[in-house]
Amino acid sequence: MSNNEKTRGVFQTAIIPAAGLGTRFLPVTKTVPKELLPVVSTPGIEIIAGEAAEAGADRLVIVTSDRKTGVMAYFNEDPVLETALEKQGKEVMLHRVRRAPGLIKVESALQEKPLGLGHAISVAEDHLTEDEDCVAVLLPDDVVMPTGVLEEMEEVRNRFGGTVLCACEVPGEEISAYGVFDVEPTGDPADEGRVMRVKGMVEKPDPEDAPSNFAAVGRYILDRSIFGALQRIEPGAGGELQLTDAIALQVEEGLPTHVVVHHGVRHDLGNPGGFIRASVDFALQDETYGSDLREWLKDRLKQDVDG
Ligand code: G1P
Repeated sequence: MSNNEKTRGVFQTAIIPAAGLGTRFLPVTKTVPKELLPVVSTPGIEIIAGEAAEAGADRLVIVTSDRKTGVMAYFNEDPVLETALEKQGKEVMLHRVRRAPGLIKVESALQEKPLGLGHAISVAEDHLTEDEDCVAVLLPDDVVMPTGVLEEMEEVRNRFGGTVLCACEVPGEEISAYGVFDVEPTGDPADEGRVMRVKGMVEKPDPEDAPSNFAAVGRYILDRSIFGALQRIEPGAGGELQLTDAIALQVEEGLPTHVVVHHGVRHDLGNPGGFIRASVDFALQDETYGSDLREWLKDRLKQDVDG
């Protein structure tokens, strides 16, 4: 078995919806797409693309808009820059510059109007080949660490078929920012606390209506029939076509749907507060910046305590 075959997963295509206006991150997102903001020095979207490639995807479909051409350009090779770095002997930088274009085959799908996440996913449908029976979706705002949750989700899809999603337990006061699951045990004791069956799903419920504290966090393996369901939903929360509503419709219609509960770290890159946390977390683990930053942070926090 070749290395490539070994890592090949149940899905071939991964969709990254990246057409949003980035309003929570204005004013920088006026000209810089939030997906290109650097976590230390790597754009968030490269971290997410790396995760998709590691899980065995061989094609990435980035859903983008006319305003955000820089996102696709980031995945192009840059011969002029590469030659200059080569001449200067800057091997480390050369390696970093080449990483994104070499990760995975990237295609773009245009979302002409911001009609919601469900609509964004639907515009990627034409990029799938006939033999693909499911597709992965990775939301670029969500960093889920350590990686490996997609592989766990693939195992669950192999067992139950249908759709598999990733859930995190979030505090009650934050629940209305998410798609929220109504869940029950699968019946297999080995799944306890790790895999659950989905009985329903609701987008951004009021806290008192939330069916649980298990929230969707940006990793989906969707049965290909999702594209049909996306055609059958009406605008939902925020007046947008919600992916959650299409998933909920399929649950009602009897499609096996499960969640894998992620117990590790999750960062939200979509707003400055979450982005700063992610940056600090990554920087602390960075071999160039980590130890200096740790010492500086200790001193800085001590100043706060000492007043
Ligand atoms: C989207 C989804 C939501 C999910 C969330 C995870 O919401 O619609 O179901 O829980 O991502 O980050 P958004 O953050 O785009 O409002």
